Amino acid sequence: MNKLFAEVVFTRFPARILIVLCSLGAAVLGLLGPFFQKEFVDRLTGAEGHLHLWRFESPLVYILLAFLALIAGQSLYQITSYLAVKESLLMQRIFAKRVYDKTLHLQVDTMSGKPVGEIVSLYATDVQGSTVFLDQTLPAGTATFFPLLLAPFAIGMLFDVPLWPTVLTMAFIVVFNTLMALRQSRFFFKFKQLAAERIGLVNEWIQNIRTIRILGWIRHFEKNIFAKRTQETTNRVHMVTNGQVMNSVSSSITFLLNVIALSSLVFWSNHQATSGEILALLWILSGFLTRPFRQMPWFFTFAFDSWTSLKRLEDFFSLKNNQTETTETAVDKAALQRDKKYSVQVHGLNLSVGKRKILKDIDFSIEHGEFVAIVGEVGAGKSMLLLSLLRETGASFDTYRLGDKDALEAPIDEVREHFSYVPQEGFIMNASLRENVAFIYDIEADRDPLVEESLKLAQFDLSAEKVESGLNTEIGERGVNLSGGQRQRVGLARVHYQRSSILLLDDCLSAVDVDTEQKLFETLLLGAWKEHTRILVTHRLSALHRVDRILFMEDGKILDDGSFEELLARNPKFREYTTSVAQEATERKDKVGYVES
Ligand SMILES: Nc1ncnc2c1ncn2[C@@H]1O[C@H](COP(=O)(O)OP(=O)(O)OP(=O)(O)O)[C@@H](O)[C@H]1O
Ligand SMILES: [Mg+2]
Repeated sequence: MNKLFAEVVFTRFPARILIVLCSLGAAVLGLLGPFFQKEFVDRLTGAEGHLHLWRFESPLVYILLAFLALIAGQSLYQITSYLAVKESLLMQRIFAKRVYDKTLHLQVDTMSGKPVGEIVSLYATDVQGSTVFLDQTLPAGTATFFPLLLAPFAIGMLFDVPLWPTVLTMAFIVVFNTLMALRQSRFFFKFKQLAAERIGLVNEWIQNIRTIRILGWIRHFEKNIFAKRTQETTNRVHMVTNGQVMNSVSSSITFLLNVIALSSLVFWSNHQATSGEILALLWILSGFLTRPFRQMPWFFTFAFDSWTSLKRLEDFFSLKNNQTETTETAVDKAALQRDKKYSVQVHGLNLSVGKRKILKDIDFSIEHGEFVAIVGEVGAGKSMLLLSLLRETGASFDTYRLGDKDALEAPIDEVREHFSYVPQEGFIMNASLRENVAFIYDIEADRDPLVEESLKLAQFDLSAEKVESGLNTEIGERGVNLSGGQRQRVGLARVHYQRSSILLLDDCLSAVDVDTEQKLFETLLLGAWKEHTRILVTHRLSALHRVDRILFMEDGKILDDGSFEELLARNPKFREYTTSVAQEATERKDKVGYVES
C-alpha cells in the first residue's frame, strides 16, 4: 500500500473515525424519517403496517419525530463535510511542508532532470490533490456507502419485501458507475498532466520573454502554447461529457429502482401494503437515495484522482541524493571559526550523474591565504567543482579537509559557514539594495557603513549607478532590473560583507569591463581580501597573471597545476587554451568596434 495513503488514513485517526460515525448517524436518521412518516400516515388512515417501533396514540408525535430525524440527519451530514475539510487542510499543511523541505534538501545534480514546472505543479496541484481523499472521497464514500448498505435492509425490514431484486439492481448500478469513473479518472489524470506541462511552458516563456521577442520566436512559442490549450480543451470536453453521462445515469436510475422496489412490495410482500408504507418507500427511493447515487461515480473518480497525486508525491519524496546523508551530531562548533584562514585539501573527488562522469579523481590542495584560479573550456566541470566543495552535489571524496577539520564529518551547514560564494549566474532577490548586500531582511541601520563600504570596494558607486533611493532602492524583478555587470558587483559586495574564510568566485568578472576588473583586483581580490583563501573560476586571461596558482581543467580532470608562466612553458594544451581564449576576446572586440563605428 502507498505509504502516504496510510498516513492520510492514520494521522489523527480518531478524527477520521468521528467523520465515519457522523456519516453513519446521518444515514440512520435519514431512514428513520420515512419510517416515522409511515407510522403517521398509517395512524391517520387506521391501517395496520408490518412493523412498529414505538406506540404513540397521537399521530402528531410521529410527524414531529419524522421532522426531527430529518433535521438531525442533515446537520450530521453538514458536520461530516466540515470535519472532512478541516482534516484535509491540516494534512495539506503537513505535505506542503514536506515538499518544501525535500526541495530544499535535494542537491543540484539530483534536481537535474526535474523541470521547475513539474515541481511547481507538485506544490500547486498534487499537495491539494492528495488530500482529496479526506475532503471528498471519505465523506462522499461514507455518504454513499452507508445509505446504499442500509436502505435495502430497511426496505426489507419495514415492508417485509424480499431483498434480492433491490440489491441486484443496486449492484448493477455500482458496477456501471465504477466503469464510468475509471474512464473519468483517465481524463482527470490527463487534465493534471497537461496543466503541469502548460505551467512549465508558460514558465519558460515568461522567464525568457525578452529574448524570445528579440529573436522573433514569439509565433513559435504561441503555437506551442495554443496547441497545448487545444489538447486541454478536447480533454476537458471528454471529461465534462463523461461526467454528464454519469450524472444522468445516476439520476434516472432511481426511477428503475422505484419500479423494482414497488413491484416487489406489491407482488412479493406477505401482507397488504398500506398507503403509509408506499409513501415511505417512495421517500427512501426517490429522496434519501438520490444523493448517494449521484455521489457514487464522483466518489470513485476522486479516489482514483487522489491516488495519482499521492503516487506523484511519493515518487518525489523517495528521490535520494547520491551522497550519503551526514548526521547532525558530534560537531566541535567552536573549532570552526569564521575569519580564520583555512587551507583546502581534496583527494579523490569523483562525481557522476547517471552514467556520466562529471568530475574524475580530482586532487589538489590550496594553502591558507592563497589565490588560485580554476580555468578550462566550457563544460570542463569548474562550477560543479565549486558546488562539490560546498557539498551541494553528490560528489564522493577520499579526503576533504578544511584547515585541520574533516569536512566530511561536519554537518553541511557548518562546512558552508567557511565559504562565501558568488554563483556564476549572479543572484539578486526582490528586496532593497541594502538587503541584497547584507542578505538579511529588516537589517538594522547601524550596519549601513559596512554595506556602503562593501558596495564602494565592489566598484558599485551609488551616485553613478542610477539607483535613485540609495540603499533603499528596490532591486530585482519587482524593482530596478540591474545589468549583468551591476549584478556581479552586488554579488562581490555581498561577499565582502560576509567575508567568510574561503571565497568561491564563479566567473564573477565576466560582465565587468577591463578598467573595473583592474580596480576590483586592487580593492578586493588583491586588496581587502588578500588574507583570505580565494578560488576564482575565470575565462579572463588578464586575471591569470595576478593569481598565485592556476588549476587547469579539462573534461572533469585537473590536467595541470602551477603558475601562469609555468603552465605556458610546459603545457601545450594550456597554450592552446590561452590562444583560443585570446582569439575569442579579439573577435568580440572587433565585433563591438564594428557595431560602434
Ligand atoms: N545540475 C547538473 N546536473 C547534472 N549535470 C550537470 C549539472 N550542471 C552541469 N552539469 C554537467 O557537468 C559538466 C560540467 O559542468 P560545469 O557547469 O561544471 O562546467 P563549467 O566548467 O563550469 O563550464 P562554464 O565555463 O560554461 O561555466 C557539464 O558537462 C554539464 O553538462
Ligand atoms: Mg561554470
